[in-house]
Amino acid sequence: MTRISLTVDGQQVVDDVEPRMLLVQYLREKLGKTGTVVGCDTSNCGACTVHLDGRSVKSCNVLAVQADGAAVTTIEGLAGDDGTLHPVQEAFRECHGLQCGFCTPGMIMQTVDLLAENPSPSEEAIRLGLEGNLCRCTGYHNIVRAVQHAAGVSAGSTSSAGEGATA
Ligand code: FES
Ligand code: FES
Repeated sequence: MTRISLTVDGQQVVDDVEPRMLLVQYLREKLGKTGTVVGCDTSNCGACTVHLDGRSVKSCNVLAVQADGAAVTTIEGLAGDDGTLHPVQEAFRECHGLQCGFCTPGMIMQTVDLLAENPSPSEEAIRLGLEGNLCRCTGYHNIVRAVQHAAGVSAGSTSSAGEGATA
């Protein structure tokens, strides 16, 4: 066992973990943060995306011990203390950018990082920024609209509604 000390959604945590334990396992199984989802376990789908010191990572691709000393934010730490949704969460709700609970947490965490890097992304930049996050129901059109909405960028430039997109 290895002792780790980190902050998760603003709470200080000290724990002993197996060195082989993945960060996503730690979050879900030890901390009960089941909003972070395992979709593939092979770093393909992005469902497990969280922030590690403010940058998005696929937590199935990070060991819990690698988060020692870091600040981790999950989808469960994104809303305000009073329950006010984060603007990106609000935009996904507003634009119907979510159909299931599976890909959505990772999409939102990736979007928050994307907009921190580029507050006014083009549609192409959004699709590129989300290419590591898969939506199995191909709801990409509304996801792109939601990101544009969150960014305050006009959604008028998106291509035809209802398409299966390639983000
Ligand atoms: S579960 Fe981590 S990328 Fe799919
Ligand atoms: S909305 Fe989650 S997989 Fe499509």
